[in-house]
Amino acid sequence: MIDPTSPVPKYSQLREILLDWIEESRLGVDDAVPSERELGVKYGLSRMTVRQTIDHLVAEGKLYRVPGKGTFVARPKIEMSLRLASFTEDMRSRGYVPGARDLARRIVPARGHLARMLGIAPGTPVHHIERLRTADGEPMAVERSNIPLSVAPGLNEHSLSGRSLYQLLEEEYGLLLDSGEQTIEAGICDSTDARLLGLPSASAVLLLQRRSFANGRCAELAISTYRADRYQLHSTLDPQR
Ligand code: GLP
Repeated sequence: MIDPTSPVPKYSQLREILLDWIEESRLGVDDAVPSERELGVKYGLSRMTVRQTIDHLVAEGKLYRVPGKGTFVARPKIEMSLRLASFTEDMRSRGYVPGARDLARRIVPARGHLARMLGIAPGTPVHHIERLRTADGEPMAVERSNIPLSVAPGLNEHSLSGRSLYQLLEEEYGLLLDSGEQTIEAGICDSTDARLLGLPSASAVLLLQRRSFANGRCAELAISTYRADRYQLHSTLDPQR
């Protein structure tokens, strides 16, 4: 119930109620949330207060709206892996069927940023591989991998469809990635990635840049666009010493 004497604003109290319903599974994924009018009547709130709560929960990705149909419970977000795992391993460990659709594969001379990040001389050829990554057939990310030709000569002759890149590097080239570094930042997807990911243009995304190393040598620079409506970051925190 809403406590009108509480210092907690009414829209926050309604937020807690709706989140409880989701956490206690009284509302499941894709279930319709009662209409703004119904919630207003039930809790004695103005339509504006209810709308404010729903707007916040939609913006947080907890709920989603279907125009003309109503508001529904969104799927919980996937925690982005902070380990040096392949997309395939990561998705499998969460019970999803991983997939990849080849978008482009070419050999390009590395320039500026790319050459610097890979630690190679400008002009050195690299494999550029673009893939749409899916989980249970749903688009999750666009990954653009850059791998020096010298690291995996003839990589282009190997099909990647239905195959993990990391597994291919290990099985065909004996390349075991042993360290990595990654930056993750908020961004807005361009029209190409929005189309590939099935998102409205200029949707929020997470932009990842990962460098993976084998024996001290950079084997891959991947620049990826992950759906912000499906991924979140979680980390445990150690006390400051
Ligand atoms: C992760 C990394 C990418 C890497 C990919 C390999 O998603 N962010 O840098 O290319 O895994 O995944 P897989 O081995 O499934 O092709």
